Amino acid sequence: MPQTCVASAPGKVILLGEHWVVSGSYGLAASISLRASVECEKISCNKPEVHVESVLGSTAINVKELEECRGPLCGLGYAARYLAKALSIEPSCVQCRVFSQIPVGAGLGSSAAVAVAFSAAYAGVHGIELDRDLINKAAYAAEEYNHGHPSGIDNTVASYGGFVLYKRGLGVKPLESRVELDALVINTRIQRSTRKAVEYFQRNLSLLEGVRDELIGLVDRLVLKGVELLGKKDLERFGRIMFLSHGLLSGMGVSVPELDWIVHTASAHGAYGAKLTGAGMGGSAIVIGNREALSIVERECMKKGFEVYQVRLGVEGVKLECR
Ligand code: MEV
Repeated sequence: MPQTCVASAPGKVILLGEHWVVSGSYGLAASISLRASVECEKISCNKPEVHVESVLGSTAINVKELEECRGPLCGLGYAARYLAKALSIEPSCVQCRVFSQIPVGAGLGSSAAVAVAFSAAYAGVHGIELDRDLINKAAYAAEEYNHGHPSGIDNTVASYGGFVLYKRGLGVKPLESRVELDALVINTRIQRSTRKAVEYFQRNLSLLEGVRDELIGLVDRLVLKGVELLGKKDLERFGRIMFLSHGLLSGMGVSVPELDWIVHTASAHGAYGAKLTGAGMGGSAIVIGNREALSIVERECMKKGFEVYQVRLGVEGVKLECR
């Protein structure tokens, strides 16, 4: 049985369909080359505890007494409990350290990436090899604790990597095509709550009684068209769908002037596409384009004081190494 395991998992961007997915449209997301890593090792203590250290603090979580747990790291205890039940294992006492390149609260799936990496490393120290389906389900248990009832798109991207198509009721489907592309992720540094953004979008959608279903249907078709264009690497047409999607999200009230500025700047400098990504109301924007356009947009955004990440989209999902 290994003593120490290290797992890493990617963050994500939603390329198309965020918010609308909550009401039944397709959503398309991609992994990004910013990763969260978790190292777990067995330690001697007589309780079924997970001792977690991260930038969010340190805590000891008793996997059998989760109701007592308070704080942002408790979700990991739910993932551990899911694994213990699913695999019929007696949870050992484990120490885990979290390191992450993914900014927190920026709409880039940092909590899901941590939950996925944690689940793989935790299962690893209990002698379980990497099983993406199982890890994905365990991480969803952590995400439910963190976000209520999320769509599951973040943990699926972190588990499988690449590009993922999602629809409520149909579930999540990793896409076959293994394209990787360059992009910029631009963090406005405006902290926002996913829960509040979802509520505000839903409230505004309810004002559109009579055209609501048509709008959801339109986004549904735009996402599927986007998948087709991505498969053909037709980034110019794909980018146009991104610009249009941003306009729709902005009209639904989940953009902010900073995100609109980024999208206009990207458009003015010839990027293929740009939009807010994730919940909006702050958080991040995603820009795709050729090298020249991306470098101008990067410079302009840095002048404004935004945090800019050069990323690859579509990278590998969770990875595990044990010794
Ligand atoms: C948040 O990353 C994406 C939303 O569509 C919510 C969800 O899908 O759970 C806003």
